[in-house]
Amino acid sequence: MALVGIEEVTYGVDDLDTVDKFFSDFGLETVDRARSGATFGTPESTMIHVRPATDSDLPGALEPGSTLREVIWGVDSKESLDAIEANLSTDRTVTRDANNVLHTVDETGYGIGFRVSTQTPVHLEPLTFNTIGATVRHNERFKLYERAAPQHIGHVVIYAPNFDEAFAFYTQRLGFMVSDTLRDLDSAQGFGAFLRCSTDHHNLFLIRHNRTGFNHLSFGVHGIDEIMGGFTFLSKQGWTPAWGLGRHFIGSNIFYYFRNPAGGYVEYYADMDCILDPASWKPGEFPHNTPEALFAWGGAPPKEFLE
Ligand SMILES: [Fe+2]
Repeated sequence: MALVGIEEVTYGVDDLDTVDKFFSDFGLETVDRARSGATFGTPESTMIHVRPATDSDLPGALEPGSTLREVIWGVDSKESLDAIEANLSTDRTVTRDANNVLHTVDETGYGIGFRVSTQTPVHLEPLTFNTIGATVRHNERFKLYERAAPQHIGHVVIYAPNFDEAFAFYTQRLGFMVSDTLRDLDSAQGFGAFLRCSTDHHNLFLIRHNRTGFNHLSFGVHGIDEIMGGFTFLSKQGWTPAWGLGRHFIGSNIFYYFRNPAGGYVEYYADMDCILDPASWKPGEFPHNTPEALFAWGGAPPKEFLE
């Protein structure tokens, strides 16, 4: 597949200083900080850019206030980048900047882009400490996480009033694979689709909604202990937890969500389903209005989380 995952994300925000502190507390590395905005990074060399919402160079916002402005997807080669440019140029404006990054919009109007990936994947080692059946390692102590350090940008979640067109765009034009779907049994129309372009269970969760908007961006960490280290640190700093600790049923990941002053929510996650062999994965179809559609344990999300 040409796409390899999320490479960069840009937010347009109302309060740069608050967002700057939040992402620092969240555990991202500060790459650049200026009056015009800041850039944060992960050990995989993926980036989060924060710019003033008033910056006229930003792609347009699809909801009021601080929110997501652009997702840049990494591709595997220059040839793949050229092919995407040729394909998307047939029905929308595609520009190529000085760094060879393509910029355009998806079928709903969200800013998207593409670049040859420079990610250096980090392997998130599974928990082995005191795990039954794991190889015994002498003199090994529990690893204490006083805070989290997100390694990987996992997925983005957006609302699409034109869900069918958006779904077709991502699957047919960009080659995303369907991992699972949520279905509204009353209307027989798709309610949401978990789509992937890497071995992660999902890199994009597309939700049918009556409005456009951004729900959350998700970051991979090493395990439940790092998630709770992040939770403890962010809580002490006064940030607002939104949902967790829990485990999703679809995708299997353990999660904790916080409100993000940059827009929507942000998620720490670990232990997500990994799909190494697409031929062996059977996409599931789940009714959207059952508890297991949203979580396996940990309780239901607050109502505002879904609105
Ligand atoms: Fe998520």
